[in-house]
Amino acid sequence: MTRVLMCPPDYFGVEYEINPWMHRDEPPVLARAGEQWRALRQVLVESAGATVLEITPHPGLPDFVFTANAGLAIGDTFVASRFRFAQRQKEEAYFHQWFAEHGYRVITLPGDLYFEGEGDAFPVGGNLFAGYHFRSDIRSHHAVADLFELRALSLHLRDPRFYHLDTCFCPLDERTLAYYPPAFDAYACQVIEAHFPARIVVSEEEALRFACNAVVIGTHVVLNGGCPRFEQDLREYGFQPHSVDVNEFLKAGGAAKCMTLLLR
Ligand code: ARG
Repeated sequence: MTRVLMCPPDYFGVEYEINPWMHRDEPPVLARAGEQWRALRQVLVESAGATVLEITPHPGLPDFVFTANAGLAIGDTFVASRFRFAQRQKEEAYFHQWFAEHGYRVITLPGDLYFEGEGDAFPVGGNLFAGYHFRSDIRSHHAVADLFELRALSLHLRDPRFYHLDTCFCPLDERTLAYYPPAFDAYACQVIEAHFPARIVVSEEEALRFACNAVVIGTHVVLNGGCPRFEQDLREYGFQPHSVDVNEFLKAGGAAKCMTLLLR
């Protein structure tokens, strides 16, 4: 049974600009965002068989809905994020509290190591694939990997539109990856090719619709609508895509995966 943590978008908004998707003069429509979020939650439960846990939203934290950035939770251990931008650092205390109250051992990294949780880190087999440059600090990768006895494989992100690893990198299983190669530097592409023998290359058009920002639960893949080519590829590789329109959240630079944190 897969459990995921989500936060209702009651106070979601674009109140500052910390990635190229965010424009204060193009605010999301809150009512529509609420409907899209509830539809996503429903598909995760009813189509993908997940159990959804919720954390209480707070006014003044418009990005709190993106729980993937809370940290990394494996077993009973939660490594809390240290956000790069002050606007999101205010979320940290609430995530600490939730995980402590739910019986986790909460680990905080040294203050000078930025780490934005599952947004930039994917445990796959014995490896921790981790992104750096725009948000997480490369030095955080080893610190986090060591805690879980994983091997850190750092991937350099080079396109600001794909500022978190989960915007351009989607492991489907231990040997299959969907990704958008131009978001990575040449060495990162070599590392990826060496570790994933089966690779689905997502088109620029669909990558910009956050195709890679998909929630993978077993063979179910929950993703934003409007990515028919990727859905077709997923079916050919034996996965079942479920699309939900989460366009309001693209205005903040996030989609389906950003709104869930896997409790591994
Ligand atoms: N506005 C948020 C930020 O820039 C979006 C976070 C998206 N989260 C993710 N896991 N990619 O921090």
